Amino acid sequence: MRTGTVRSKVKFDGDWSFYRGGLHIPYAVKGGMTGGITDTGALREGEWLDIAFNDKGMSEQQLEWTAVSLPHDWCVEQEYVQDEGLGSRDGSHGYLPGGTGFYRRTFTLPAEAYGSKWKIRFDGVSGTSTVWVNGHLLGSHHGGYIGYSYDLTDVLRYGGEGTNVIVVKVDATECEGWWYEGCGIYRHVWLENTDRLHVAEYGTYITTPEVAKDQAVVHLRTRIRNDYPEGMQVSLRTVIYDAAGMQVCAGSAEAYADWYADTELEQSFHVEQPMLWCPDSPSLYRAESTVIAGGQELDRYETIFGIRSIRFDPEEGFFLNGEPLLIKGTCNHQDFAGVGVALPDSLIEYKLRLLQEMGSNAYRSAHHPPTPELLDICDRIGMLVMDENRKLDSSPNGLSQLERMLYRDRNHPCVIIWNLENEEVLEGTVTGARILKTLAQTTRRIDPTRPTSAAMNHGWNENGYNDAVEITGYNYGHRADQSIDIRDHGLYPGRLMIGSECASYTATRGIYEDDPVKGYCSEYGTNIPSWGCTPQQAWSDLVKHRFLTGVFMWTGFDYRGEPTPYLWPCINSHFGLMDTCGFPKDSYYYMQSVWKEEPMVHLLPHWNWPGSEGRPVEVRVFANTDTVELILNGRSLGEQQVDMNGYLSWEVAYEPGELQAAGKRGGQMIAEKTVVTAGQPYQIGLFPDRLDARADGSDTIPVRVAILDKQGYVVPAADNEIRFEVTGAGALLGTGNGNPSSHEPDKSVLRRAFNGWCLALVQTSAAAGAIQVRAVSMGLKSAEVMLQSASESE
Ligand code: GAL
Repeated sequence: MRTGTVRSKVKFDGDWSFYRGGLHIPYAVKGGMTGGITDTGALREGEWLDIAFNDKGMSEQQLEWTAVSLPHDWCVEQEYVQDEGLGSRDGSHGYLPGGTGFYRRTFTLPAEAYGSKWKIRFDGVSGTSTVWVNGHLLGSHHGGYIGYSYDLTDVLRYGGEGTNVIVVKVDATECEGWWYEGCGIYRHVWLENTDRLHVAEYGTYITTPEVAKDQAVVHLRTRIRNDYPEGMQVSLRTVIYDAAGMQVCAGSAEAYADWYADTELEQSFHVEQPMLWCPDSPSLYRAESTVIAGGQELDRYETIFGIRSIRFDPEEGFFLNGEPLLIKGTCNHQDFAGVGVALPDSLIEYKLRLLQEMGSNAYRSAHHPPTPELLDICDRIGMLVMDENRKLDSSPNGLSQLERMLYRDRNHPCVIIWNLENEEVLEGTVTGARILKTLAQTTRRIDPTRPTSAAMNHGWNENGYNDAVEITGYNYGHRADQSIDIRDHGLYPGRLMIGSECASYTATRGIYEDDPVKGYCSEYGTNIPSWGCTPQQAWSDLVKHRFLTGVFMWTGFDYRGEPTPYLWPCINSHFGLMDTCGFPKDSYYYMQSVWKEEPMVHLLPHWNWPGSEGRPVEVRVFANTDTVELILNGRSLGEQQVDMNGYLSWEVAYEPGELQAAGKRGGQMIAEKTVVTAGQPYQIGLFPDRLDARADGSDTIPVRVAILDKQGYVVPAADNEIRFEVTGAGALLGTGNGNPSSHEPDKSVLRRAFNGWCLALVQTSAAAGAIQVRAVSMGLKSAEVMLQSASESE
């Protein structure tokens, strides 16, 4: 009997319970045993049975289960510990401990649900996770950056059989990387239902072998899974729609689908006058695959794709749709203020938008596969992606992680490079070369349409290591004293190259003098690590040498962990062009001046230096105008020609007042930036990123919070403590301030400003309505803002 179930995919993020600590759940149970195993003392006999098998008596009286929604990162809820001992060096994990945690969720299914296929998919769990459903051990997964799924069909309870119980153990006692990785189920979970005949997991592969302005060839391979106990004749109908929802082509294919097996069908289409995908115009297409058997529609599956061509050239760099394009990239880990690694989709989009506003057109997901939604957003907004495998690892687990990334991501037009490893110790060795070769060949088999690369910091020219991949990645090819990449271009002229990691410029937002005690680095860049260089050097070398193809600045955002150069009390990195809240540092504006066309001027530092009257202050200006005139309190301090890839500098005797940088073209001012000496902190300013939100229990609005003087100017060094009150149809999700040495909890209603600013994240509830955000602080005029959430259908 065919169930006729047409696919459904339900987000399974709500209604979880969480317990932090160890519980003993046996991996095997001897038949006939009714009692339990206790090893914690706190557990009753049989408790593990309740936890893993039964809905009844979850022993709330003995274990503290907390209600949580996913994504969830329990690590960020803990206190900072100086010797937390995780990772390869002090502070790798941001001085936040890992540990073990359990998640549990119950749900029921009607009797009719039996017969079709049920699958649970975890997009990402930080730590080694083990999943039981109704007491059945489904598997353990090691690798926090790639999703996995389990077929639940046989072990579920249907109708009167009872309530289903899912238990997930997450062991986050070890690190996979040398940065903050969080703990727990930090990406979405999905419950999927399909007919027994369906498009297999990641079962479509869409390529565009021919792309021209007037016509493109779109090739589809579709894998159909038949989980019925008999073979059958199937028909696959594919319809392609453009971004406006208009059908552009359609076709059918037939095949015999053997039982308990996958069958692949191929189709080719010609799309006339294709809308090519590129950062400026990220046009997407949608392929709808319908699977039919015995005249019955059994599955309908959707694949989003783009039509575009890519090419890399050893002299000229990258070409998209036949046009040269400089890759203006940043590397990024995935955490953010207030949430750790558990980012609602809207915050992922916020981060990407901030990068785009800086002028960036490329994202490197360092050093692991990103959340699937990040790629969906990059497709939609036009951000190129260097998609990255976690490790140089050809073990069964290593290969499986790579393969899952490739199958999952190969339809995304945004993905232009598969990066197979980053700075592994085995770079340049014989063994390393063998492993890399296996990874590269595995990649080419699954997706030959994109080049492979390795992001290397040594061993570029040894033992044929880099020959295993198409593009040699240079992490810090540019250093203060040498340019290894430029040298290698001379030595190996046919080599494809990319600046896989550049700059590593350490700066703390709003700080203009290094402070080793507090752990701050000056925005003037007086503390650049020996392996790094200034953003100016990284960028200007690329402009001079197109064979370098592109830069990926380390990093777009500060991230938790890897504090450099100072350790405790510093808990996060300072490499970002923005801080952990997405507040721009001065170097953000340098990137904007060289990455964007719109006229702009930025000047540093701020203009509040009480007690320094008459002392010289170096004023720097980033601009993309022809000239800049600096004007202090109405007096010109001279006009300078803009150095397009560098910055302008004036030495100015400090006097309070107004300092203006006027950017001119043809003698006319076309952009300007003024800094004003602010008075005492007087009031709070709230600047929400938007006023409207979706009432879905997830959408999150970043509210920027400033300490202002009476005139409304930001007070540059203000650190007043703010208390947030969020009422109505939303709640406070977390806070941050970008201070790399702040040990304030991210999940508190209290947060100090850091150099004038802090951030509140306001998340909607599932019910629509007004959300009132109030910020109060002793001695300051409070502020209030009203946000509005609406349900999708309103
Ligand atoms: C690179 C590495 C990154 C980060 C960075 C700091 O060598 O790939 O993960 O550690 O250096 O500069």
